[in-house]
Amino acid sequence: MSATDEITRARAAGDPGGIVAPPAAWRQVDATVGAHRDAGAGHRCLELHVPRTFARPEPGQFVQLLLAPPAPVLLPRPMSVASVSASAGGLTLGFLYAAVGAGTQALAALSTGAVVHVLGPLGRGFPLDVAGTPVLVAGGRGVAPLLFAAEAFARRARRCELLFGARDAAHLVALAGATARLESAGGRMHLATDDGSRGLAGTVVDLLDRIAPRLRAPLVIHACGPHAMLRAVARWGLRHETPAFLAMESVMACGTGVCRGCPLPRSESARTELARRRDRIPSLYGSPEFAMCCTDGPVFAAPDLDWERIH
Ligand SMILES: Cc1cc2nc3c(=O)[nH]c(=O)nc-3n(C[C@H](O)[C@H](O)[C@H](O)COP(=O)(O)OP(=O)(O)OC[C@H]3O[C@@H](n4cnc5c(N)ncnc54)[C@H](O)[C@@H]3O)c2cc1C
Ligand code: FES
Repeated sequence: MSATDEITRARAAGDPGGIVAPPAAWRQVDATVGAHRDAGAGHRCLELHVPRTFARPEPGQFVQLLLAPPAPVLLPRPMSVASVSASAGGLTLGFLYAAVGAGTQALAALSTGAVVHVLGPLGRGFPLDVAGTPVLVAGGRGVAPLLFAAEAFARRARRCELLFGARDAAHLVALAGATARLESAGGRMHLATDDGSRGLAGTVVDLLDRIAPRLRAPLVIHACGPHAMLRAVARWGLRHETPAFLAMESVMACGTGVCRGCPLPRSESARTELARRRDRIPSLYGSPEFAMCCTDGPVFAAPDLDWERIH
């Protein structure tokens, strides 16, 4: 079965990488900060306890974190869910984040017991039912949602290969914990660093070139990391007729499809598909040129975006 057939079948099964977003299950709740610790290389691990009214997020979905006033930022900040576990009264959601600006730095200052408003779960996650050996391709902090995916694959008795790349060994963020989590999910870790300080000397796509021929075909790729890496992984998937699903990011305001502030350029084939299904698509989801990262994604099938126009 070709990659296109595979994606068409996946679309038919649940519309991942398709056009129409599934019904939203999100709500806004007050969460309390649990464990919150340094993860190295400027990153932090955060746990938030949410009440049982909050729907269980799927791997690849995200939440909007809104800091309680007084806060230095007005708008919420999007964050990928890195783990979910049951806890007294609800769920504990895990996150791995970099404190890069005013919002995430204020988040980093929160202590156990502080309250954060959480909107979610949002967006479309990784389509875990697409057949093939799962190859998870991570760049830097992108490893976190992919570990969550590896655990979901393990529950489906599917073993993952995780290819983890960074600029140097120090930026293989939270590597020890990631390796332990992956091993308990029955997966295997493969490393690459640009400077060769750990694993293969080269990019994670060089690593993909090296590892892919040794794996049982067909492969299915799920990737999370910087856009330049995702573009290279998408092109690799298209070149090798291998389904590839990429967790994209954009600056976001609402996270729910309303503000139209998180556009990503659709590919020509996606624009054609949209035109064909025009009559069945609610107007909110109908921009012919641009997909909204928050509702059409954040996970996109490689053929659905115009990688020439993604930076
Ligand atoms: C779906 C999704 C999931 C995300 N998951 C994570 C995660 O798991 N961990 C994590 O650390 N971050 C994640 N991010 C990025 C995170 O939301 C931003 O880093 C955060 O909003 C920055 O807010 P700030 O107020 O600290 O910085 P700002 O002052 O708002 O921005 C600081 C700098 O970061 C840039 N920036 C802001 N948002 C983004 C973005 N989305 N992509 C690229 N550059 C950006 C700004 O242009 C600016 O240069 C995710 C973003 C999206 C859209
Ligand atoms: S963030 Fe508002 S439409 Fe996506």
